[in-house]
Amino acid sequence: MAEVDLVAEFPRPAGAARWAEVMARFAARLGAQGRRVVLVTSGGTKVPLEARPVRFLDNFSSGRRGAMSVEAFLAAGYGVLFLYRARSAFPYAHRFPPQTWLAALRPAGPPQAGLLSLEAEEKALPGFAAALRSYQEAATAGTFLAVEFTTLADYLHLLQAAAQALNPLGPSAMFYLAAAVSDFYVPVSEMPEHKIQSSGGPLQITMKMVPKMLSPLVKDWAPKAFIISFKLETDPSIIINRARNALEVYQHQVVVANILESIHSSVVIVTKDSETKLLLTEEEVAKGIAIEEKIVDNLQSRHTAFICDRN
Ligand code: PMT
Repeated sequence: MAEVDLVAEFPRPAGAARWAEVMARFAARLGAQGRRVVLVTSGGTKVPLEARPVRFLDNFSSGRRGAMSVEAFLAAGYGVLFLYRARSAFPYAHRFPPQTWLAALRPAGPPQAGLLSLEAEEKALPGFAAALRSYQEAATAGTFLAVEFTTLADYLHLLQAAAQALNPLGPSAMFYLAAAVSDFYVPVSEMPEHKIQSSGGPLQITMKMVPKMLSPLVKDWAPKAFIISFKLETDPSIIINRARNALEVYQHQVVVANILESIHSSVVIVTKDSETKLLLTEEEVAKGIAIEEKIVDNLQSRHTAFICDRN
């Protein structure tokens, strides 16, 4: 039966074709080097309620999980394609919000030959030089590519293009789907064109279900890849069953299950036949260790076993 294009009904963002080419070139270059490549999706999708949008439906995701995970994947030698919500947490930079470096950095004399020199007390920006070095190493090695999305439609088109770019890498490609993707949207054909007027009284909106993209991803877009979805719940009593249900329905390899209150201190890695709880101890928190380092370490081993099995 012909594959149904679930993404086609969402408006294609400007620049999507160019990004598809850039991502395909990135994946092909790193694949030719024999490097594993991971797509990390990160942050929340924004859903417009009007055709000339003033109002949107959004969600809580800060992008911290994705940004921290990118750092761990790069340190582990992966090439990383980072599909992230514009202005959400960015690898390395997220540790230093503008108010920290605006206060700490100052010009060290006038620019000379076009070179701007800045200086700061080392203790005012702890870890800044190391973060800059790590980012620049990845940039120089060409192992990191960041692609921005804002709306749900942007995300869906770019996800599809990223999957098509990574598909030729077979089992060496990993999908790490940490973005918080909206389950609801208003189709373009049903949107009011102009700003919804408050003079019309209380607002009732009927939203359609967004099709789960895990399904075409696993079946059609990248069927040989190692695929990890995330499951977020607020009720701990249902999380493992929901994760198991996702594995059953989509037939992918791993679900990382997390509960809203503890997303940055504990997760459960769920596979068809295992459950592994990862937890940060107080000592690890004090040492600045992040749960994402443990998640990536665990998934890297599983990815190695997956590649061996497929080969
Ligand atoms: O960004 P932070 O603030 O650090 O928070 C990190 C996080 C909690 C957002 C992250 O750890 C996380 O759990 N992300 C997934 C949240 C989520 O959307 O869960 P879900 O149960 O609604 O979706 C499950 C999976 O289905 C997700 O991997 C998603 O990529 C996928 N999905 C969702 C909607 C959709 N239409 N198609 C999909 O394929």
